[in-house]
Amino acid sequence: MLKRVAGTKDILPEEASWWQELEERARKLFSCYNYNEIRTPLIEEEALFNRSLGESTEIIQKQMFLIKGKKGTYALRPEGTASIVRAFIENNLAQKLGLAKLYYIGPMFRKETPQKGRLRQFHHIGCEVIGSRDPFLDAETISLADKLLKEAGVKDYRIKINSLGCEDDKAKLASNLRSGLKTKSSKLCPDCKKRLKNNALRILDCKKDACKEVVNSLKLKQEKYLCPECADEFKKVREGLDLAAIDYEVVPRLVRGLDYYLRTVFEIAHKELGAQDALCAGGRYDSLVSELGGDELPAIGFAFGVERIFMASGCPRPEAGKDLTYIIALGVQAKRQTVKLLDTLRTAGVRADTDYEFKSLKGAMRRANDLAAAYALIIGDDEIKKGIFTIKDMRSGQQEEVRPQDILDELK
Ligand code: HAM
Repeated sequence: MLKRVAGTKDILPEEASWWQELEERARKLFSCYNYNEIRTPLIEEEALFNRSLGESTEIIQKQMFLIKGKKGTYALRPEGTASIVRAFIENNLAQKLGLAKLYYIGPMFRKETPQKGRLRQFHHIGCEVIGSRDPFLDAETISLADKLLKEAGVKDYRIKINSLGCEDDKAKLASNLRSGLKTKSSKLCPDCKKRLKNNALRILDCKKDACKEVVNSLKLKQEKYLCPECADEFKKVREGLDLAAIDYEVVPRLVRGLDYYLRTVFEIAHKELGAQDALCAGGRYDSLVSELGGDELPAIGFAFGVERIFMASGCPRPEAGKDLTYIIALGVQAKRQTVKLLDTLRTAGVRADTDYEFKSLKGAMRRANDLAAAYALIIGDDEIKKGIFTIKDMRSGQQEEVRPQDILDELK
């Protein structure tokens, strides 16, 4: 038997209705914040991600799905930010939109070792704002992420924030880290030993217990690396969050696994998720637009992992078929009548169905039950002769006789 690829998931109909509901709520919320949707291709040139995420990042080193083409190498997108910045520059959106507020929903691909909450194809609901460095915008962005989780019905999450500062501050943080780790490097995992030389900040993000222990023993203080301007901006971010009454923690060890971040970074974690506890991650990437050839435009954004929201919501199963009218056609004439009636009901926006296959009333009623239909409409050849159909309310069990011409009004 052919099976799905490891690390991918079939989203079956009962779960898909949860996805639709979440996506609809997310779209409404983004619209309230004046965002517009952007849809970019699933494949991009490999170089886009190499340049945006950083050559030494885990994603670039190990996780890209690459496709060799005649004119170069393409990659299945591992995340959305780089593509959106590329599309922003290529389509001249700075001129068209001014401050660009863009959201996206769709699949991402990373060649990871599959485990709980870590897939090779997963989905992001994310957004990017390009064109402002106001710290209150950072607070607004985090508050939007908080609202999205409330809409999804997720509870008990933690919003963690930090500032990496500007390029100079980030370099200072890395150098503080290297000196702090000098005497402890033997306890680090082999990957982190390498990172100590070429990307020390990544050590803060290592999920290995031994490395976490070493990192936890360090006393990292923002005062030691943030310049006055970045410190002041971070203060304003917190002020904005306080004004919006958002619960958050400042976690000086928080860095993100992508190189483009500067200044504010944040993560939303949920303890039920275990080792992969991040529901959402985001932050500022104030140099990326210019690094990819655009103007000097600061930017901020975030992305949620939809599969992880699903897990943190307790894997709900929304009720399907609630308002379905199920037509039970018994006999040849009844089937003909059903074809016409279904068309009338559906044209009027009433959810209605049949399966044309009924052999007995009992079997058909069982099927209506399985579908959790709200009503069963029974049409037999006798009913057609009499000109009266029977509607059964599947919840109360009550039956009522209706004339064919009154059915639509009755159901509406
Ligand atoms: P990220 O931290 O790589 O950030 O991913 C964001 C979220 O996607 C994670 O917090 C997690 O919920 C989910 N996620 C990541 N990898 C997987 C996986 N293998 N399986 C399931 N879920 C996963 C970004 O991608 C940035 N582009 C976010 C951003 C937008 N920053 C600024 N703007």
